[in-house]
Amino acid sequence: MKSLPIEIRARKNQPLGMPPARFLRDYWQKGPLLIRGAFPEFQPPLSPDDLAGLACMDGALARIILRGDGKAKSLDSGSRPRRVRNDDKKNGATAKRDWKVLNGPFDDATFAKLPESRWTLLVQDVDKWDADTAALLDCFRFIPSWRVDDVMISYATDGGGVGAHVDQYDVFLLQGLGQRRWSIDTRPNPPTTFRENVELKLLERFSPTRTWILEPGDMLYLPPGVPHDGVAVGECTTFSIGMRAPAAGELLFDFAAHLAETLPESQRFADPDLQPARDPGEIDDAALRRARRALGPVATALDDEAFADWFGTFVTRYRVAQVAVPRKRHIDRATLAERLSHASLEHDPGSRLAWRRHGRGARLYVAGNVFDAPVAWAKALAAGPRRIDGSRLAQLPEATSGFALIAALIDAGHVTLRRR
Ligand code: SIN
Ligand code: CO
Repeated sequence: MKSLPIEIRARKNQPLGMPPARFLRDYWQKGPLLIRGAFPEFQPPLSPDDLAGLACMDGALARIILRGDGKAKSLDSGSRPRRVRNDDKKNGATAKRDWKVLNGPFDDATFAKLPESRWTLLVQDVDKWDADTAALLDCFRFIPSWRVDDVMISYATDGGGVGAHVDQYDVFLLQGLGQRRWSIDTRPNPPTTFRENVELKLLERFSPTRTWILEPGDMLYLPPGVPHDGVAVGECTTFSIGMRAPAAGELLFDFAAHLAETLPESQRFADPDLQPARDPGEIDDAALRRARRALGPVATALDDEAFADWFGTFVTRYRVAQVAVPRKRHIDRATLAERLSHASLEHDPGSRLAWRRHGRGARLYVAGNVFDAPVAWAKALAAGPRRIDGSRLAQLPEATSGFALIAALIDAGHVTLRRR
């Protein structure tokens, strides 16, 4: 089968270089496409000065990003923004990489202090402020309007850009003024680990497979997950028409809240068939079945293990207002062993404990946290009474794991040692 072109020239009445139906079938959410001349003789609706003005307004979502590699001029005096330096020792002298992000709104003084090159100003949601920019969206009416997030405009000085990154949403990158070099990695499953210690989510490794210089009116479509890097060649502006694609977690969160509001107060965890508890601190299979029943069909989204862990963290957090205060110093094994022999362990009043069998061991739930534990230790800790005799604990099997568990609980402030 012939592979699809990645670059195309727009035609009269076809800004995408093809009918929208073909674009949606062949490229949308599938692969990148560069459309030369998508907006012929494009007159950007907003000038760099207008954009800077907008970036100074209260409520505008604006950022300035200074790109560096050790060569960029530093903003080093008085009230000038301090640059963050990350010296990458692995790469020696060539690897001094410093990036700085400034968050708006800005004022004239900020712009006056910027270096001549290697920075960019980005303003999101410009379509909400400027009707001419919003009018650009008329060209994207083949996409449901609620899929469109915003038009972000960037102004960049020579060498400026936000660095190599991936976006989780589709974007049309329309070149306004000047030129920008776009590099993208078109390989399937490209590496997407991020660099550490920078304020931006920059890719650790970026190996472009395609590079183009975009001229005014050219437009690059990128589906989610394609690594890309746009570097200004001289001054330029880019209009990025970004789509909105809610994450499944976001949908579920809202859906669950919505669903919860419709349920009557009387529909709740119920256990009319409760049998005398073998161990009051245990979450048994019958309890988990009842929890699934109270939730109805949504509970099927999780398998038994994941459901049990969720339930354990939920019930041990339930109605707990206080949060345990972690200890400043770690308690070591020797100190713990020595003190345990003549002390009791006490639960923090705000930390509820419960446990459940998990294979040959146990899962111990403590105020919304999960710990792997030997069964005997989980039982002893969760069963209460609140004061647990330390010398009795010290005799339990699997002492190494048991002591490590108690040390973790003491460090986190969930239990305290009390001298008898
Ligand atoms: C930019 O306009 O500089 C960045 C746009 C993007 O990469 O999504
Ligand atoms: Co991007």
